[in-house]
Amino acid sequence: MSSLFDSYPLGDVRLHNRVVMAPMTRARSLDTIPNAVMAEYYRQRASAGLIVTEGTAISPEAQGYAFIPGIWSPEQVMGWKKTTTAVHDEGGRIFCQLWHVGRLSHRSLQPGGRQPVSSGAAPARGCQIFAYDDDGEVGFINVTDPRPLTTAEVERVARDYATGAANALDAGFDGVELHAANGYLFEQFLNPAVNTRDDQYGGTVPNRVRFLLEAVDRVVEEVGSSRVGVRLSPFSGLFDMPSYAEAQETYLYLADELGRRHIAYVHLIDQNPDGQRLLAPEFLASFRARYGEAIILAGALTGELAHALVERGLIDLTAFGQPYIANPDLVERLQNGWPLATPDPKSYYGGGGAEGYSDYPRFDPATV
Ligand SMILES: Cc1cc2nc3c(=O)[nH]c(=O)nc-3n(C[C@H](O)[C@H](O)[C@H](O)COP(=O)(O)O)c2cc1C
Repeated sequence: MSSLFDSYPLGDVRLHNRVVMAPMTRARSLDTIPNAVMAEYYRQRASAGLIVTEGTAISPEAQGYAFIPGIWSPEQVMGWKKTTTAVHDEGGRIFCQLWHVGRLSHRSLQPGGRQPVSSGAAPARGCQIFAYDDDGEVGFINVTDPRPLTTAEVERVARDYATGAANALDAGFDGVELHAANGYLFEQFLNPAVNTRDDQYGGTVPNRVRFLLEAVDRVVEEVGSSRVGVRLSPFSGLFDMPSYAEAQETYLYLADELGRRHIAYVHLIDQNPDGQRLLAPEFLASFRARYGEAIILAGALTGELAHALVERGLIDLTAFGQPYIANPDLVERLQNGWPLATPDPKSYYGGGGAEGYSDYPRFDPATV
């Protein structure tokens, strides 16, 4: 019987257990360079079988939120070494989430104040991101309309992912996760309502999936397939991603193609913005039949639900996001049936400080 707390071989690395800390942007880096407070926050959570970092920009153009870290410069690589060393010193494993937001950005975050880029010119209607207003104040403001990437630029962005992956390995990460979920750049190519291109990256399912697969191939060439994961959010609709008829076909085609590449894992999110579940057991079973490596699932999981899904063999690893914010020792709490602390959403994002970030205590069993 497989348990959440059994060790698990993921690609080349052995995880202590099947609990994954889901990637969470916390906006604690004032200058895009990962700092000591971030290293301490991740160190505290190293009993997770695997930590996936917050979304980390692969290039200046990839940024869509103020105060997020990057992985394009030597200073950022040095900064991340503090985190990877801290997590490894505790016996943990950590992958870096490689991120390009595409159209979910604002001029104030773009090099030269230029327009953000996307698959097409469709803006993300009604979407706000954390950026600088005309007075230089940071807050949630409307995104700037994007321009389509040229064909040559799409190939350049795929190479930017490879550079980010090489930098991540230099920084000591155990691997990388390509963020192809939640309405960001890759999903802007997957979705035909947003992707209006007429080159080899638009139109048919293989064309819309091509950019993600080319980026995966570039990254695999750089770091090897066993060090690569991909995050997907089928049917989610987050950040103005309209539903479309070929969605299931698109994601099952991806399952086939990622399976052929034997990347370490696919990380699925089962939740839409209203908190509804979207991935039927039949879909998970079909995905699993096509994709033979590890499947991670995230989205409003509880310890019981996670156990049940692993026991049924539908998934291999279970990811927790918000429960990790206020419970650095989540694994120990789940293992012992200790109560979970509740995070304060007001400090989810913000500035450089430890408050509401690395100051949540471990559970004290003496209080039971
Ligand atoms: C504060 C916050 C920041 C997040 N940032 C990211 C991110 O950078 N990359 C990503 O793929 N998902 C991000 N997510 C989504 C989480 O990884 C996770 O999929 C989601 O919170 C659902 O899991 P949960 O119900 O256990 O929180 C974020 C979620 C939260 C709450």
